[in-house]
Amino acid sequence: MAAATAAGFLFGPLRSTSVRTFRTLPADRPDPDTLPDWCDVDVRSIPAVPEWCIETFSDPGDAVIDPFAGFGTTIAAVDRLDRDGYGIERDPRRVAYVRDRVEHPRRVVVGDARDGRSAFITDASADREGFISSDGSKRKSLINGDDDEEDHEGGGVDPPSFDLCCTAPPFMLDWMDTDPFEGYDADGSYEAYLDDATVAFEAIADLLAPDAVAAVEVSNVRFGPGVSTLAWDLADAVDDADGLRFRTEIVLGFEDGDGRVEDDVDRDDGSRVDAGNRAVDAADDDRTWSPETGRYGYGYDHCYCLVFDRDA
Ligand SMILES: C[S@@+](CC[C@H](N)C(=O)[O-])C[C@H]1O[C@@H](n2cnc3c(N)ncnc32)[C@H](O)[C@@H]1O
Repeated sequence: MAAATAAGFLFGPLRSTSVRTFRTLPADRPDPDTLPDWCDVDVRSIPAVPEWCIETFSDPGDAVIDPFAGFGTTIAAVDRLDRDGYGIERDPRRVAYVRDRVEHPRRVVVGDARDGRSAFITDASADREGFISSDGSKRKSLINGDDDEEDHEGGGVDPPSFDLCCTAPPFMLDWMDTDPFEGYDADGSYEAYLDDATVAFEAIADLLAPDAVAAVEVSNVRFGPGVSTLAWDLADAVDDADGLRFRTEIVLGFEDGDGRVEDDVDRDDGSRVDAGNRAVDAADDDRTWSPETGRYGYGYDHCYCLVFDRDA
């Protein structure tokens, strides 16, 4: 008992003491054709990332929240892995898209992650005359299962105590002057973004069970002038949130379908893109998250899973 307590103190919950800090996952990206027409940017995670986080940090039957649900990659993985998925997403069209694809559409709400619990209670989609459909039009009710219009009257759902937060926040670069938490439509700054990340994760921490984990997918970003150390800065920002303590980072690398680590990439014109050089050559304007590289994106061939423990 004493040994278990000491191990728990040093390493957190026992179910995760054996987690290695470097992993290689399949690089299979979601099919671009499955994105709706109105969407001009593919921000979806490689499904293997949330799958791995969910399997590593939760058990079947656990409740999992993605407060930046996007196109629902995490919640779809939660469904496949027999956990209970809930999500918050600010973009109503993305929410409608997710609701068409998950087991419990009503648990994915239109709202602001910074509002935490109240985002579920007030579910912005419930205030509308008709729910916004994933094609951008309005309609009166949801297609799936138990989530008819009547269920939405008067607000959203009462969220449970979550066992895992598994998420990928909106990205930000240190030279940008727009606000990712407002859809990049409002003025912003990198400092304000990091402050907002602290606020959002504090609100999410409030929804987590005492031994819960928050697993955050993020990478540093090579785009524009130099490198934004987003992953490291976000680790600090989330660690600043009351209720969450940084435990470790796990580096996630990627393999293609044959198990080969993706290095150089052949282009149609016969040239090769050397991935290593792409990651260090600051003069290379072609170092973005272009899908042609088949890589993680953002100038790197790995991302981080940042792991935080609930700290009551
Ligand atoms: C990196 S994407 C998540 C992608 C997701 N993992 C997927 O695979 O589809 C971040 C998402 O956070 C959403 N978002 C940005 N600010 C938000 C906020 N304040 N509250 C909730 N969601 C927000 C964005 O609209 C975007 O869909």
